[in-house]
Amino acid sequence: MERTLILFKPDCVQRRLVGRVLARFEDKGLNVVAMKMMQITPELAKKHYAEHVEKAWYPTLEGFITGAPVVAAIIEGLEAIRVIRDMLGATSGLKAAAGTIRGDFSSSRQMNLVHASDGPEAAAREMKLYFRDEEICASEPTLRPWLRASDEN
Ligand code: CDP
Ligand code: MG
Repeated sequence: MERTLILFKPDCVQRRLVGRVLARFEDKGLNVVAMKMMQITPELAKKHYAEHVEKAWYPTLEGFITGAPVVAAIIEGLEAIRVIRDMLGATSGLKAAAGTIRGDFSSSRQMNLVHASDGPEAAAREMKLYFRDEEICASEPTLRPWLRASDEN
């Protein structure tokens, strides 16, 4: 079982798409174990996007991600990190395949609606940036027996 950090970015919140995007994760059988609305500070943005801080486009990314509230969430599921990255599609909405979240809803390289951790180390680091341990509400979905076979884990 894996957990990954998701951000419904400011464009997703402003465009009233949080519900529709969240529904895709729920429909897939993934389990939300933490969620909150918050405004990202420039300090947190620099930590979150540490690998990009030196890029020429970082200042506009920081302006975007701190410019309005986001919804942060931790989502759990089998192979959740890769499964969700696949559901998002390529970084640019102009390149992301039709049928993916970015491919269906975004026409931008920057305003691509959702962030998801890109690997186990990033997931561990990013979950700590946004949530304290006691904010995570682990529970076994009652639907579990109808989501996958009992020997799939
Ligand atoms: O989010 P993802 O891991 O797919 O992409 P990234 O290459 O790690 O870039 C992080 C975020 O920076 C992207 O999701 C875009 O919002 C933004 N970005 C940008 O503003 N301009 C670029 N040329 C590339 C990425
Ligand atoms: Mg990335």
